Formats: sequence, structure tokens, C-alpha cells
Amino acid sequence: MSGLASQLPVAIVGTGSYVPDKVLTNSDLEIMVETSDEWITTRTGIKERRIAAEDEFTSHMAVKASRQALEQAEIDASEIQLIIVATITPNTLTPATACYVQQDLGAHKAVAFDISAACSGFLYALKLAKRLISDGAFENALILGAEKLSAFVNWEDRSTCVLFGDGAGAALLKRAEKGEGEILATDIGTDGGQTHLLNIPGGGSACPITIENADRRLATLAMIGKDVFKHAVTRMRDSANSVIERSGLQPADIKLLIPHQANLRIIEAITKRIDIPEERVFVNLHKYGNTSAAACAIALDEAHRAGRFGPGDHIVLVAFGAGLTWAAAAVRW
Ligand code: ACO
Repeated sequence: MSGLASQLPVAIVGTGSYVPDKVLTNSDLEIMVETSDEWITTRTGIKERRIAAEDEFTSHMAVKASRQALEQAEIDASEIQLIIVATITPNTLTPATACYVQQDLGAHKAVAFDISAACSGFLYALKLAKRLISDGAFENALILGAEKLSAFVNWEDRSTCVLFGDGAGAALLKRAEKGEGEILATDIGTDGGQTHLLNIPGGGSACPITIENADRRLATLAMIGKDVFKHAVTRMRDSANSVIERSGLQPADIKLLIPHQANLRIIEAITKRIDIPEERVFVNLHKYGNTSAAACAIALDEAHRAGRFGPGDHIVLVAFGAGLTWAAAAVRW
């Protein structure tokens, strides 16, 4: 599914991010499971990740990231019309995490709901919000990727627990004024034939957690990593190329590629295939691991605040996750 900016142009006018204070290093994990800093570093590039406090929920992290984005956009919470939270680790199955965010922010006029598209969720939210604004339904939207994955990780499974971390990122979208940037093209896709590759099998209606199955760790992430890896490379390459082409750009025009932060080897593989030099690719996974829907959002904010791109520059975001899902966006800042 794809679409060029055909109606009112939409700009990203503020970004924000938040990660919890607690750092869990690869050396800490060596004490918890049979693994090594060397294995984790060479296979993934991850050195450490952040872990939320017990009483720090997905919505709390989302609110902290939101406040930064609103401050940068110079928009008061009371003016927000739409809040979309992308998450696979909601505070509660219902109501949506976006409802808690609306309340805590004081964004009482906003329509608020969640979407579930795993690591691609932030870019799904971007596409959806962009379309709703460009159609004239809303004037602005606060979109978030926020995850407390530490609550859904089996800390005895070395093949998954070394990969994930917690955090949140936010972006404020609004109708672009003359001279402001513009989201040029977006792409999203799904392959429901691969649901078995990456999922949280328990805790939903298919497998409620009961006293009988509670000790089987069913409500934690399960993944066939090798297969996910192969799909990730081809889907992200195709999705990124699609938005570059539909924006009328060449890879040489891209100031910064911001890929999903799951594995450095995946990032290197897609970078080569899209033909963008290493120095124009943003990587922060060594600090945070894979924060699923939050990853692209945090990376966008960090890259923005670090001055890795500025007004007039073209950037491309691309992500991939459970579903399987994939998504990309090309933006003129
Ligand atoms: N420490 C030490 N050894 C380990 C660890 C560990 N933490 N984990 C696995 N191993 C062992 C395995 O048991 C296996 O041993 P064996 O050969 O004796 O059987 C060996 O290391 C190799 O394991 P593989 O799984 O084949 O390792 P691989 O090179 O594929 O790397 C990884 C695994 C890092 C998970 C990789 O496949 C990957 O990154 N996949 C993609 C993940 C991803 O992109 N997810 C995105 C979406 S996430 C979302 O949507 C929430």
C-alpha cells in the first residue's frame, strides 16, 4: 500500500524521546543466561539496553517523549487533535495506551487510539496520521512508538532476552505551512503468512493465561530469528527503495537513512543494497537494543537533536517487524 502526498502537505514539526535510567549491559546478561558480550556484539551490535522501573509503564515513557516533541513544536497539549500510540506492550489490553497518554498530557480534545504493527508501528502511525491530516480530518497529530518490552521478555531465553529494551519516541505532525518540510511518500505492507516467525503467543483470546499454563512463559516474545532476518533485509530494502523512487529522489540525495534498530548486520545488509554510504546511516542500537515500535521514533529524535539533518534535507525511515510488517517514509525536513 502506498501513496504520494496528493492533498494538503504534512510536516513533522517536533520530535521527542525518552529511555529509562536503568542500564542492562551485556556483562549483566552474562550473569543471567549462558551468553557473552562477544556473542551479542558480533551477532547484533547491541552493547546495552534500558529497562523501565516496575511502576514505569508504556504510557509514562510515551508522555515524557511527547512533552519534548510538543515543546519543540511549540504546541500546547490542549491543541492536540489526534494521538496514535504504536505499541505491542500496552499498559492494559483495553483501554488503549493512547487514552492514558491523553489524560496524563492533558490533551483532552484529542481522539486517542493504539495501533499494533510491532516494530513498523511508528511508521504505520506516520502514514495514517499524515493521511488523516492531509484529508482535512485533523489539523495535527501526536504519533508515538512506545514499548515496555522488558515486561514481555522471557529472561531465561538467551536467544531473545539479549535483544530487546524499553523506551519511547514521539513526533508532532501538522499541516505544513509554506517553507516547512513535508512527508513526501510512505509505504506500508504486511505478510500474515509469517505470523509464526515472531509473536507473543499467550495473553490474547487464542491462549488466555490460566493457573494451569502460567508457568510456561506463554506471554513472552518468541522468535525464529534466522528467518526473520532474511525477510527483514528484502522487505526493508524494497520499502525504502519504493519511497525514494516515488519521491523523485536518488540514494545520493538522502542525507540520512534511519532504519529500524534490531541488528547491526541487518542494517549493514540493507544499506549496501540501497547504496547509501555508512556515514549517512543512523545507528543507536548499541545503546538501546531493539525497542520495537519505539526504535525509529527514538532514532529520529536523537538524529534530529544531534544535527544529523536539518531544514531542506531528505531523510528516509524504514522498519520491519512481527506480522510480518514493514514500512518506510521519505521526508523533506
Ligand atoms: N548467546 C550465545 N549463544 C546464543 C545466544 C546468546 N544470547 N542466542 C542464541 N545462541 C546460539 C544458538 O543457540 C545457536 O547455537 P547452535 O548453533 O549450537 O544451535 C547459535 O547461537 C546461533 O543461533 P542463531 O539463532 O542461528 O543466530 P543468528 O546468527 O541467526 O542470530 C539473531 C540470532 C541475532 C536473533 C538474528 O537472527 C536476528 O537478528 N534476527 C532478526 C531479529 C529481528 O530483526 N527482529 C525484528 C523484529 S522484532 C519485533 O517485531 C518485536
